[in-house]
Amino acid sequence: MPDSPPAPFRLLMLGAPGSGKGTQGTRLAERYGARHVSTGDLLRGQVAAGSDLGRQAQPYMDRGDLVPDELILGMVLERVLGGTAPESYVLDGFPRTVAQAKAAYEHAKDADRTLDAVVCLDIPHDELLARLEDRGRSSGRSDDNAATVLHRIEEYEQKTLPLLDYYAGRGILVRVDAVGEVDAVTERIVQALDGLKG
Ligand code: AP5
Ligand code: MG
Repeated sequence: MPDSPPAPFRLLMLGAPGSGKGTQGTRLAERYGARHVSTGDLLRGQVAAGSDLGRQAQPYMDRGDLVPDELILGMVLERVLGGTAPESYVLDGFPRTVAQAKAAYEHAKDADRTLDAVVCLDIPHDELLARLEDRGRSSGRSDDNAATVLHRIEEYEQKTLPLLDYYAGRGILVRVDAVGEVDAVTERIVQALDGLKG
């Protein structure tokens, strides 16, 4: 008999630029049999393809500003949270404003696809700056330079941090120390999620 498929599991990775959302999100998606969806990767794909959306988003990304909510919602709502999307997902970098979170919740509710858990990766500024400076040497990302990184952190603190209260209020938030070996951070997240489920 084949193993039964894992129960649907829907997760959001929150955290400042460089906190490890992509690194950990990829691993967790594999572990939970879920699709990893990074809005940053989707947007960079649109920029590389030269689409209308890419052309509209690029100046915001290059400055380290968040891209306007309506562009993001148009890109992800139906594809990622609609009734035809995979049942299990790990969101990385979306929602990142309260308006996005509310719109995502309303949309996902209709398709019975709302979040089971939200992981916030906690990390001090000096570690973020060191990681992104290191990555900037080879990533080719137009936003991995010192001035833009500082602005991305400001955007996170002003517009995304308020989401912590929103998700804590729904009882699905776990906070995890994101400093240390990649494997150790993954284990901390899995244990925190087990605690939430149990
Ligand atoms: P996005 O692509 O989401 O970038 P970000 O939030 O700035 O985060 P990063 O991808 O830089 O970092 P990460 O947390 O994924 O960390 P990573 O695993 O790479 O967004 C880019 C832009 O797109 C935004 O500025 C905005 O303009 C736009 N955008 C995207 N989504 C949007 C939305 N919803 N609304 C509006 N605008 C949106 O790790 C970082 C580095 O550290 C890597 O080199 C990694 O190898 C290393 N590392 C990871 N873990 C560890 C560890 N434990 N120890 C040591 N090094 C580690
Ligand atoms: Mg990322």
